[in-house]
Amino acid sequence: MYVCLCNGITESDVREAGRAGHVTPCALKAKFKLKENGCCGRCAKNIGELVEIATQASATSCPRATDR
Ligand code: FES
Repeated sequence: MYVCLCNGITESDVREAGRAGHVTPCALKAKFKLKENGCCGRCAKNIGELVEIATQASATSCPRATDR
């Protein structure tokens, strides 16, 4: 599912960013260049949802981390 139509960013892209450590609003905005290049900024208004998706992906990126 697309989370940013202007830049063609998908939920999968956000999960990948989360696994790479981009889990804050600023980090996600910078990573995906939200509110730049004349984009509408609609997705930036919903940044909380993107943070939640990224954070969940980050938490599940290493399933064996809790085995220790
Ligand atoms: S929907 Fe993301 S900048 Fe327009």
